[in-house]
Amino acid sequence: MAEPNCRICGSVVEEFFDFGRQPLSDAFVERAGAPDEFFFRLAVGVCPHCTMVQLVEEVPRERMFHEDYPYLSSGSSFMRSHFSDLAKRFLATELTAEDPFIVELGCNDGIMLKSIADAGVRHLGVEPSGGVADLAAAKGVRVRKDFFEESTAADIRATDGPADVIYAANTLCHIPYMDSILRGVAGLLAPRGVFVFEDPYLGDIVERTSFDQIYDEHFYFFTARSVRHMAARFGLELVDVERLGVHGGEVRYTLALAGARTPSPAVAELLEREAGQGLADLAVLRAFGAKVERIRDDLVALLTRLRDEGKRVVGYGATAKSATVLNFSGIGVDLVPFVCDTSPTKQGRLTPGTHIPVVPPDRFSSPYPDYALLLAWNHADEIMEKERDFRAGGGRWILYVPDVQVV
Ligand code: SAH
Ligand code: TYD
Repeated sequence: MAEPNCRICGSVVEEFFDFGRQPLSDAFVERAGAPDEFFFRLAVGVCPHCTMVQLVEEVPRERMFHEDYPYLSSGSSFMRSHFSDLAKRFLATELTAEDPFIVELGCNDGIMLKSIADAGVRHLGVEPSGGVADLAAAKGVRVRKDFFEESTAADIRATDGPADVIYAANTLCHIPYMDSILRGVAGLLAPRGVFVFEDPYLGDIVERTSFDQIYDEHFYFFTARSVRHMAARFGLELVDVERLGVHGGEVRYTLALAGARTPSPAVAELLEREAGQGLADLAVLRAFGAKVERIRDDLVALLTRLRDEGKRVVGYGATAKSATVLNFSGIGVDLVPFVCDTSPTKQGRLTPGTHIPVVPPDRFSSPYPDYALLLAWNHADEIMEKERDFRAGGGRWILYVPDVQVV
C-alpha cells in the first residue's frame, strides 16, 4: 500500500489509528443489503512536517454531498442561537462598510445566512447538497448549488466582487482539496476581508477522547499550529482564534491576507497551550488510540450486560458521529433496537453499516426505555433538558465521551 501524502504539504503522513472498514456516516439506507452501500478504510495520521492531522483515505465528495444529504443544521435550538448570535456579530463588526458582502461555504439549510438575509445584507451561500440548499433558498437565502473551490471563487468575484467575510462552519474540515479552497479564498477576499471558520478542535478531541468526531466527512482535525502553517502557504495569516463549546469543543479561526491585520494575543496563547499538550506528537496520538480501544471495550461490555439483564436500551440522535462508534464497536440491533432522531431525512431509514432503524423522537417515551445511549452527546444539555421526564422517571443516560458513564 502506498504511503499517504499530506494533503497540505506533501510529506509522508504517519498513521496512528485505524478504525477499519466503515460506511459513509450520513448514508442512512432504506433497507439492509442495499447493493450500493459504500465502505472505506477509516484511519487517521499526522503529518510530521506541517502537523496536520488528517484521514489517510479520501471518499469522493459526490458520494457524501448530494441531493439527499440528510444533515439538517437547524435541528438544534442551541445551534440556531449560536449562528444567529454570530450573524449579529458579523453585522455589527465586519459588515459595516457600504454594501458589504458575505459568502458562506456549506450554508446547509440557511441556519446562519437567514439572519443576514433578513438584515438585507448582500450574501451568497455555496452549498453542493441540493436538498438542504433548497431549504435555505426557501428561507430567503441566496444560494449557489455548487462545491466551493478555486473556480467557484473566481466566478463569484467576477459576478459579485470581493467578499468582506468568507465563513464556513463545520465545513472546511470536510474538504480535502484545501489548496483549491485557500487559493479561492485568497482571491475572493477584499483587502481587509476575513476568512472565518469553525470546526472540531483536535485539542478537545484528544483531551476528551471524542473519537467519534473521526468519520468520512471530517477529513482534517485542525489546531492553531496546523492552521497557521496551512494559511501561510497561501499568503494568508492566522489572526485570531476563539474556543467554542459547541459540538464537543471547536475553535473559530480567523484568517486575513498576510500583513493585513495584527494577530490577537489569543493566537500565541493557544499555540503555547498546544505545544504543552503535544498535539503533533505521535506518542500522544497513539495514547489517544489506546483510550479509544478501552472505551469501545467498556461500552460493548456495558451494553451486553444490560441486554443480558433484560434491560431496554435505545439510541438517541442518529448523528454522523455515531457511525464510527457503532460500526467500530460492532453495536447492532441486538444491543440497541432503534435510534430516535428529529430529522425527517433520517427517520424510516437504517443507520449506515449497522442497520439500526431510525425512528421519530416520540417513540422514546412510548414507553421510556431503561437506558438511552446518547449518540448526540454534543447536544447533551439541550437533549437532557428536553427529555427531563425520562430521568425523572428513573431512566438513565449512557455516555461514552470522555469515558463510559451512566448518569
Ligand atoms: N454550516 C452548517 C453545515 C455543516 S455540514 C453547520 O455548521 O451546521 C457541512 C456542509 O458542507 C454540508 O451541507 C455539505 O453539503 C457542505 N459542503 C461540503 N463540501 C463543500 C464545498 N466544497 N463547498 C461548500 N460546501 C460544501
Ligand atoms: P450532530 O451531532 O449535530 O452532527 P453530526 O451528524 O455531524 O454528528 O447531529 C445531531 C443529530 O441529533 C441530528 O441527526 C439531529 C439529532 N437531534 C435530535 O434527534 N434531537 C435533538 O434534540 C437534537 C439537538 C439533535
